[in-house]
Parts: sequence; structure tokens; C-alpha cells
Amino acid sequence: MGPEDLDQILKELPIPKDPKVLVGLDTSDDAGVYQLNEEIALVQTVDFFTPIVDDPFTFGQIAVANALSDVYAMGGTPLTGMNLVAFPIKTLSPSILKEILLGGLSKMKEAGVALVGGHSIEDPEIKYGLAVTGVIHPKKILTNAKAKIGDRLVLTKPLGTGIIATALKGGMASEEAVRKIVESMVTLNRTASEWMKKFGAHACTDITGFGFIGHALEMATASQVGMVIQLKAVPIFPEAMDYAKLGLVPGGAYSNRQFFSCRVEVHSDVSDLLVDILYDPQTSGGLLISLPPSEADRLVEILKKEGDTSSSIVGEVAEEPRGKIQIL
Ligand code: CO
Ligand code: CO
Ligand code: CO
Repeated sequence: MGPEDLDQILKELPIPKDPKVLVGLDTSDDAGVYQLNEEIALVQTVDFFTPIVDDPFTFGQIAVANALSDVYAMGGTPLTGMNLVAFPIKTLSPSILKEILLGGLSKMKEAGVALVGGHSIEDPEIKYGLAVTGVIHPKKILTNAKAKIGDRLVLTKPLGTGIIATALKGGMASEEAVRKIVESMVTLNRTASEWMKKFGAHACTDITGFGFIGHALEMATASQVGMVIQLKAVPIFPEAMDYAKLGLVPGGAYSNRQFFSCRVEVHSDVSDLLVDILYDPQTSGGLLISLPPSEADRLVEILKKEGDTSSSIVGEVAEEPRGKIQIL
């Protein structure tokens, strides 16, 4: 099963058309949007996964920051969350579950999100995440479909969390590398979301399981444009390079490469290793924002000041290669 197989199954479902569904399954967007009235639409998303760090509190924080991200990517305001929990309650101490939930709650508090419920099951493998409901103005929804030719592309967090998490699982990651990815993964995309709206962003998505290239391609396809990426400008955790050299690349990066590489043109000077990192599946990754060139520098400057210190202009939206990405 690859990412596009799952996509195919969803596309084959006989989902009835509903004019109140402003953003649905057909556009591979981050969250669904349902119009309530002229002023308000609901934004809804859900995400959960297995632990990627050892500390339960930190895992809870990451899972919630990651789940909220899809609402931020669309320019919405998250309001409520419901916990999704799978836990081996017969074999693991309930105190671990409590720590996970406390971590999640701390991020919900930071985001101003009310925890209103949840559901838990007994399962041999821990899983945690959140179903999120937010609001957005129906005329101010940022999807991945409106990137314009000439726009600059801003990425707000470094890439390489998947590779470093793989090194951590293999007992090979340095404390420093783990500290860096944790700091990045627990950071809410709220600040970036608020500022991109002020700077008139045309399109946005967040970088998660399909990696930088997969999510950028979703935007290129939906917007019917091409993208030119300057690899040197892409923020990458330096340790991710080191571990990728050692072959510590998660399986997801290979399947992403397999599925998406037919729509990627790589300049001959570019190292294969760096391209691997562009396919690395991210957890709680940054926002990829398409906005007018006149605003991009100012957005990056402000985001750096406000704490998204790795924010960078990584490329631009071009007419060609349409529906594809060129990497220079
Ligand atoms: Co997303
Ligand atoms: Co999601
Ligand atoms: Co229930």
C-alpha cells in the first residue's frame, strides 16, 4: 500500500455532492470545510499515530501540534479537540497514558483549544492523536489550489524529522539531534498561519507524511502550476544529512520517492542524498506557503523574529513544469 493507493480507494467511494461542503475529499487538502452560514464554516481534521519519541509527555505534545496543523494550514482557528487513544492498559502503566494526555493537553491549552471528549480502545500498540474542530470564514479559506505563477514558496520548519526519528529508533541519534526535532515538532504552526494570512498568502499546506515533495506536488497539481525549488535554500536538520548517509532513511521516504519521482525533475548537480530528505515523511512539519514575491521576504523576516527561526524562501511557482517540481 502506498500513499496513492489509499487515495485511490477514497476517490472510488460514492460520496454524494453537498454544496455546503466547501472543501472535501476530492482535492487532497488538509482539512474538510463545511459551511454553516455566510460568516462561519467548520474546519475539521483528525490525525493519530504511534510514538516517535520515548518520552510520553513529549509524544502527546507532538501528536496534538501535528493534528492542529491541518487547521492552521487552511488559515482556520481550532476550537475543540477530542482525544483518540489506543493503549495496552493490561501491560503498561496507566501513568504513561496520563503523561501522554497531559502532554496533549498542554498543547491544546497553548493553542486555546478546549478538550471536549475522546475515545479510547485497548490495543497492543500505543497510538494517540486528536480530532479537531475549528472555524474559518467561508471566503477566507486557504487551500492548496490557488498558488499563482510568480509566487514565492516559503517553508517554515526544517526537513529531516523522519530520518532522525529512524536514527533514534535504531539507537543512533545524538541527544542534540533529538532535542532539535522535538523542539520543531512541538512548535505550533499557529504563528506562521496568522502571519501568512496578513501577508495575503494564496495557498498553503503543511508538510507531513508525503514529505516535502509529496505535499508540494499536491499544491502544484491542485493549482495547475509548476514549482522550481532551490535545494540550497531548503532548511534541513544537519544531522538528517549525517544519518541519511548511514542509510537511516525510513521506509516511507522510499515509498514517497517511488510514487512521486515521476513528477520531479532533478538537476544533475543535485546530490541524491539531499533528494532523499525532500521525500522524508515529516511529523508535525512546517507550512509550505505560496504568496506574492513582494511579501515573501517580509513574511520570512517576521516569522524568524516570532520564533519560526528556520523559515526560508525555498523556491517559486512557475508555469512549467506544470504539475511537476523542478529541483535546482
Ligand atoms: Co496536512
Ligand atoms: Co491530517
Ligand atoms: Co466513544
